[in-house]
Amino acid sequence: MNKQKTVLDIQNMYANGDKITMLTAYDYPFARLMDQQGVDMILVGDSVGCVVAGYDNTLPVTMEDILYHTRAVVRGTQQALVVADMPFLSYQIDEREACLNAGRLIKNGGAHAVKLEGGTNMAATIAAIVNMDIPVVGHIGLTPQSIHRMGGYKVQGRRDKQAQQLLADAKAVEQAGAFALVLEGIPADLARQITAALSIPTIGIGAGVNCSGQVLVIHDILGLCEKYSPKFVKVYANLAPVIGAAIGEYLSEVRSGVFPSEEHSFK
Ligand code: KIV
Repeated sequence: MNKQKTVLDIQNMYANGDKITMLTAYDYPFARLMDQQGVDMILVGDSVGCVVAGYDNTLPVTMEDILYHTRAVVRGTQQALVVADMPFLSYQIDEREACLNAGRLIKNGGAHAVKLEGGTNMAATIAAIVNMDIPVVGHIGLTPQSIHRMGGYKVQGRRDKQAQQLLADAKAVEQAGAFALVLEGIPADLARQITAALSIPTIGIGAGVNCSGQVLVIHDILGLCEKYSPKFVKVYANLAPVIGAAIGEYLSEVRSGVFPSEEHSFK
């Protein structure tokens, strides 16, 4: 059995120049499968709201949702570092509430670290959580909880001023004590510059190859999100038709009386 990874292992990987792998998971079976494949970090993302609960965006996701899914993921994990996402309104009001909610994700959820969205504006909050010895992953660029400010899911940092702001945000998150930073939906060259300017690993999603690691949403790479697939997603297995066909076969076998056969019945 592989030993449980810690923040120190992630820091060592970064120091050695090893690419860091991260995937989202929301339940026990997927966590087990990716843990067995050796994924470095599992993110219990608030993307659960879109890919599991069917909301249009991540804003309705609650602390209770993330706690429930984090517990399931932790039970399926033996070696990966589990990062729980802080949902909208769980950390933006004030530092005290942010610390309390981060603590709940560790104490009641079993997560090893938390992630929150924001740069300079969230630096004090990140520092307060880190000060409680809770490891934090930052997240800047296309931050889905800011959908209404951004006017949709749009690539961020294409203009010079915005790029400068993102660089300042990245440095503020590092300075606040985050041990890693997710860069989402920004030009690859800007991600390269930010990565070069930091001494913590960057984890890219739609941010090109020059990040210290990559994260994707598990339902996206398995072809289970037919509603919306961003350009940065690579579909490694198209499971929707496979699952659809299996369900269709079950329905027709029940209707025709083929299932259950003797093999699946008790004497
Ligand atoms: O919620 C999520 O899945 C995320 C990743 C896309 C980084 O925040």
